[in-house]
Amino acid sequence: MVNPIVLFVCFIVLSGPVLIVAGIIDMSKGSGTRGGILTVLGASTMGLVYWAYSAISHMNFSKGRVLRLKGRARVARRALGDGWADDATPDIEGLTPWQRTVLGEAWLYSAGMEHASVPAFAKLSLKLSAMGAPSELLEACHLAALDEVRHARRCFALARAYSGLPWSAGMIPELSQDRPQRPSPAEGDDWSRLVRGSLLDGCLGEGLAASVAAEVSRRASDPVIRETLAVIAEDEGRHAELAWDVIAFALERGGGTAKQALRQALDALETQRSPSLPSIPGVDEAFLARNGVLPQAELGRLMEECIQRTRARASSS
Ligand SMILES: [Fe+2]
Ligand SMILES: [Fe+2]
Repeated sequence: MVNPIVLFVCFIVLSGPVLIVAGIIDMSKGSGTRGGILTVLGASTMGLVYWAYSAISHMNFSKGRVLRLKGRARVARRALGDGWADDATPDIEGLTPWQRTVLGEAWLYSAGMEHASVPAFAKLSLKLSAMGAPSELLEACHLAALDEVRHARRCFALARAYSGLPWSAGMIPELSQDRPQRPSPAEGDDWSRLVRGSLLDGCLGEGLAASVAAEVSRRASDPVIRETLAVIAEDEGRHAELAWDVIAFALERGGGTAKQALRQALDALETQRSPSLPSIPGVDEAFLARNGVLPQAELGRLMEECIQRTRARASSS
């Protein structure tokens, strides 16, 4: 028997294009008014789906270290299957199909980011090894990658439970095409790139992820969600500390170029703010907070606090 949630998601996603095509066919047959209405309805439906997706993708409620390939953040393709979920089961009693769709998308987005953090730490480990880092940094880096494996498994499990679809991680084709390239003069030397990446993706990014997860963990009503976010908050806080240790190592060994890169990275902190988006139709912010998703205004406040905290600590380095 086909899962009604699957039918609902398919209906929402496909209805936009179907209405537009029906409208165009109608107009070509001479029924201009009805065709026009169908086309507008189809475009509106597609806009609604895109709006919800955009809002979810900027919520930043649980993210690991960003996987950057050739300057762009990358995640695995969406896939259906096994291998990337633990046995967590949140309470889905009383949720409407649309609420389950939104929560499924939110946790799936999170799962993709957490999953991408595993190769992100693998890349950091290679870089630290190449630069003669001490064993404590390498050990912390590999332990952090294992934390991200656990985060990804849990987020995929929650996405599967809410959506009713067996989501899993697919391929990251860009990762297999990733070849070391000659950096541009503006990117500086290896020490500069290590400092910049650690400050933005580690100290700020993972520091913010820790703050957001801790805040939402306090607000969540489901014990499974509360426990998930409490664990993620503690782990991401430790990953942010690892980034500070990496910066200390780079400043000690990298000399003047590392210090200059840190000053430039501090100037770039202001550009890291997430855009504020309108709320998702059909679900209020209190509902999202109870289910592990932080309201936009709260996210902005925590981001501002995290930028100020990062700036103050880096300035005293
Ligand atoms: Fe994580
Ligand atoms: Fe992390």
